[in-house]
Amino acid sequence: MTYLDTAAQFYSEVAQTPEVGLCCVQSTPMQLPGLNIPLTMQEMNYGCGSTVHPAELVNQPTVLYVGVGGGLEALQFAYFTRRQGGVIAVDPVSEMRQAAARNLEIAKAENPWFETNFVDIRPGDAFNLPVEDNSVDVVAQNCLFNIFEPEDLARALGEAYRVLKPGGRLQMSDPIATRPIPGHLQQDERLRAMCLSGALTYEKYVQRIINAGFGQVEIRARRPYRLLDRKTYNLSENLLLESLDSVAFKVVIPEDGACIFTGKTAIYAGSEEYFDDGAGHILQKGVPGGVCDKTAAKLAAYAPEIMVTNSTWHYDGGGCC
Ligand SMILES: C[S@@+](CC[C@H](N)C(=O)[O-])C[C@H]1O[C@@H](n2cnc3c(N)ncnc32)[C@H](O)[C@@H]1O
Repeated sequence: MTYLDTAAQFYSEVAQTPEVGLCCVQSTPMQLPGLNIPLTMQEMNYGCGSTVHPAELVNQPTVLYVGVGGGLEALQFAYFTRRQGGVIAVDPVSEMRQAAARNLEIAKAENPWFETNFVDIRPGDAFNLPVEDNSVDVVAQNCLFNIFEPEDLARALGEAYRVLKPGGRLQMSDPIATRPIPGHLQQDERLRAMCLSGALTYEKYVQRIINAGFGQVEIRARRPYRLLDRKTYNLSENLLLESLDSVAFKVVIPEDGACIFTGKTAIYAGSEEYFDDGAGHILQKGVPGGVCDKTAAKLAAYAPEIMVTNSTWHYDGGGCC
């Protein structure tokens, strides 16, 4: 058995007997006007954050959801797409596909606006997505890619890149680790399947996304996720895992490197009305402008005329880069 078989077996088990609180952080799923999320779907919330960003789901995009789980986020995406096949949900575990289909039937009974054919559940896996090149607006995955070993992660990110339209978005939520996870935990296949031991550090995680070709990454949230305590996990010190929500754009990587937005801003405090670095960054005096980390590092050289603020780990648009 490979670690992927172990993961498939684990998700077959938790499809048949829901494990409340398996991955999710302590928060209720996003509520939207007129959306009723069936209780069983909430019990099968196996995501560690949210990949659904309402402000960007206008014009009924086509969404490919990888690793359907109990169908909670597929339903939330369908709330915005509202058309047959607007959400394509892929999962290799037949018991999970069946559970999601059952849960979506319940959702239909509880939501007059919803038709089960809004979500097209297909067998398949993250390494061979059953859709054409350049065909979807959004690819989303929640708490799945962290399970993958490095080569498989590269394949999964490459597949997401392949199927996205130019300019399309990869919306993810995954655990990350505040320091490298030791080998004895990484090799524990069941812990890996439970999203507890495959996590990369923030730097490595973001670099993998860029390696797949994504030219812009926005960090939407970063919060504590789980603590691996030293006794239970045989560690020299406790190890904090965080959960990271991100959106990566299929745009060309600029010559001087990808743009990573983590919520930094630059503020001009000089004697002119505005600051222009001649490279496309214009800052009005006293007004924070959102900048990517690369630009923030360049503008920091102009201190004290320019102040660069710290990452807020929440960025959702605007700014100059
Ligand atoms: C941690 S659960 C997350 C479920 C869902 N995204 C959520 O937020 O509730 C991982 C999901 O990925 C599925 N899965 C496991 N291996 C997979 C693979 N190789 N490709 C795609 N999905 C996979 C599992 O069956 C399960 O539905």
